[in-house]
Amino acid sequence: MKRIGVLTGGGDCPGLNAVIRAVTKAAINEYGLEVLGFQDGFKGLVTNNYVNLNLKSVSGIGHTGGTILGSSNRDDPFRFLTMVDGKQTYTDQSDRAIENLRNLDIDALIVIGGDGSLHIAQKFYNKGVNVVAVPKTIDNDLGATDVTFGFNTAVDTASEAIDRLHTTAESHHRVMILEVMGRYAGWISLHAGISGGADVILIPEIPYRLECVIQKIQQRYEQDKKFSIIVIAEGAVEKGGEMVIQRMDHTSHDPIRLGGIGNKLAQDIENASNIETRVTVLGHLQRGGSPIPYDRIISSRYGVAAVHAVMAGKFGSMVSLTGSNIITVPILEAIKELRKVDPEGEMVGTARALGMSFGDCL
Ligand code: F6P
Repeated sequence: MKRIGVLTGGGDCPGLNAVIRAVTKAAINEYGLEVLGFQDGFKGLVTNNYVNLNLKSVSGIGHTGGTILGSSNRDDPFRFLTMVDGKQTYTDQSDRAIENLRNLDIDALIVIGGDGSLHIAQKFYNKGVNVVAVPKTIDNDLGATDVTFGFNTAVDTASEAIDRLHTTAESHHRVMILEVMGRYAGWISLHAGISGGADVILIPEIPYRLECVIQKIQQRYEQDKKFSIIVIAEGAVEKGGEMVIQRMDHTSHDPIRLGGIGNKLAQDIENASNIETRVTVLGHLQRGGSPIPYDRIISSRYGVAAVHAVMAGKFGSMVSLTGSNIITVPILEAIKELRKVDPEGEMVGTARALGMSFGDCL
């Protein structure tokens, strides 16, 4: 093992630079390896676009947001946008990527990514590439790990937003809706809702009923609480309804972009009652900015553990936080199915015990 590659794939999230830094430092300090960073996710692998990473280039980036390597959630080497006879079409460029790795004498590749990127990583592993993965996403929806890095920073941002909405909601006696990200899982909504003391938490795993949401707001009104805070996951659904899609991005391997359920709920509340309602869509603020200390630490642990996994020959695996230990698990386990909130689980139970409603009139 002399030279390794690293790339950051999919949507960015806080902590990417801390992982790049940890991978590079551990590889150089502990094993004297060379490290190449591919640019803009898997795209750099196909186009052979890379930079040398050394102790100097990763110095001072552990606390910064984004990724110094760039990322992309649309470039899949197995379905790569290519010009053929002057026309744009999708072709399989995975062999070209593997050839690039071979020509660069790269012995192993560390893929820092979420669900989509890890599906691609697994395909490369199946084709013989020595891959180790690091679980990234603010959505916290990967299996086989207790947490993905970036999630806790997103929760921190959403929780602060709830704090800010509280004061203005109270002043104006309004209902304030905060729409947060998370795709098909309600982790950000649930954690931020508990942390920020939301009155209603809406998540994809528990379809809500409008009358139950309004009932909760009215109950509070009767208790002289003339405002309410609702945190809603972008993937939340009304019972019998469908997820609200903001747009389709067909250049991406996951074309669905969720968004808009907060505005729909506000409209529905105002139509069904005379409760004044406002909406804040937190959007990419949840992905930007510096990682909180928790994510800096877990990212550092993941990065170092990924290098150890490479040196131990544990290819096709992902580093994972299980309990308080970092272990390795098969990538296949992590991507088998999306990890979702358990509607009967302890976290939901905690929120209910605190008097929070999931819009289901229990
Ligand atoms: O997976 C991370 C995530 O931020 C989701 O929470 C969100 O649905 C999606 O990415 C947004 O993607 P884009 O950056 O393409 O708008």
